[in-house]
Amino acid sequence: MSSKDDLIVLGIETSCDDTAAAVVRGSGEILSQVVSSQADLLVQYGGVAPKMAEEAHSQAIDPVVQEALDKANLTERDLSAVAVTIGPGLSLCLRVGVQKARNIASCFNLPVVGVHHMEAHALVARLIERELQFPFLALLISGGHNLLVLAHNLGQYTQLGTTIDDAIGEAFDKTAKWLGLDLRRSGGPAVEKLALEGDSQAVKFSTPMKQHKDCNFSYAGLKTQVRLAIESRNIDATIPISSASSQDRNSRADIAASFQRVAVLHLEERCQRAIEWALKIEPSIKHLVVSGGVASNKYVRARLDQVVRKNSLQLVCPPPSLCTDNGVMVAWTGIEHFCVGRYDPPPPVIDPEDFVYDLRPRWPLGEEYAEGRSEARSLRTARIHPSLTSLIQGIYATTIVAHLLKLGNMIPQF
Ligand code: KG4
Ligand code: ZN
Repeated sequence: MSSKDDLIVLGIETSCDDTAAAVVRGSGEILSQVVSSQADLLVQYGGVAPKMAEEAHSQAIDPVVQEALDKANLTERDLSAVAVTIGPGLSLCLRVGVQKARNIASCFNLPVVGVHHMEAHALVARLIERELQFPFLALLISGGHNLLVLAHNLGQYTQLGTTIDDAIGEAFDKTAKWLGLDLRRSGGPAVEKLALEGDSQAVKFSTPMKQHKDCNFSYAGLKTQVRLAIESRNIDATIPISSASSQDRNSRADIAASFQRVAVLHLEERCQRAIEWALKIEPSIKHLVVSGGVASNKYVRARLDQVVRKNSLQLVCPPPSLCTDNGVMVAWTGIEHFCVGRYDPPPPVIDPEDFVYDLRPRWPLGEEYAEGRSEARSLRTARIHPSLTSLIQGIYATTIVAHLLKLGNMIPQF
């Protein structure tokens, strides 16, 4: 191994409802990208059912990884390492990806990089925008997370805000379901599309957490407001939007547009405050990264672009295929960590009997910004793992040194 550009890393992602794999070069060239979504299951169960999702991942994982290798015109022998999401996410689902990654790694004697799913959402921005240096501010918005983090360095984050209940993607998904929209491409895109037909001022939803001068989020209350608005207009979600009368359709579109406006206004207000905080902590920041599934939304991008410009910063938003869950972000984050020596040695062909998978279903990205703690927080604080940042600063450092000593011959030289 001589240079970063020569690295070829396979990334595997199974933390939620998409089975994804990709092959990426250290230079940032995407050699292949494959995503198999569980859209049919989502429609059937109205959300992610862990056991079903696990089953679907188990069926998809081998063909998805094979297709990623085939499309890249490579075999496992050409790889430098395997990167895989180890958390946060559903344990049952994470396990499928980690098992596959370990199988490949042990068969082909490859190092493994365990990746934090939310760090991957943030760092993929560095693949598409080469100017993007640390430190930067990131807003990560997906189905399960709403995070404002200050990225000081690789693996080092301060959490400025998180959600006290639901994430914005969950609110989009429920709104879509209650409005009787087509959920096959997940709820968000369906609401975004219908909102284009509606009047965003038609329904007066109130913006969440106005009285709390912090950077935390809440979407549970807005969800309830949407549900009540739907009930009061006698909208029957069992009638799909495609069969609704034009009056009914307009009414649904008004709710979609009004919901989207307020949901995004909440993001705008929190981002403005986070930019002010971030500039105090790290005055050199120049970028706001917006990533995660909801960042594919054009209205979200346009509104946040205005906030960012007003503060003389630049918005970096990956293309939609890299905002929603994907293997590229995992491979790229693997590359970034691999290059600084953070990886595990190839697993043994047969794991010891007492072997336990290192899965981190609840794994914060960084420590909370002390001054930013909200009184409103009834946060689900139970955590299984210390944050990525504290691991990297503390215990993990010792492990790395041990690995580096053991694996002297595998240390990449750049
Ligand atoms: O990051 P992601 O693919 O998976 C998670 O880690 O959760 O995000 C999925 C979420 C879903 O809630 C989906 O409805 C939302 O992102 N989403 C959108 C759009 N595209 C995906 N929300 C609003 N507008 C969109 N265009
Ligand atoms: Zn995600």
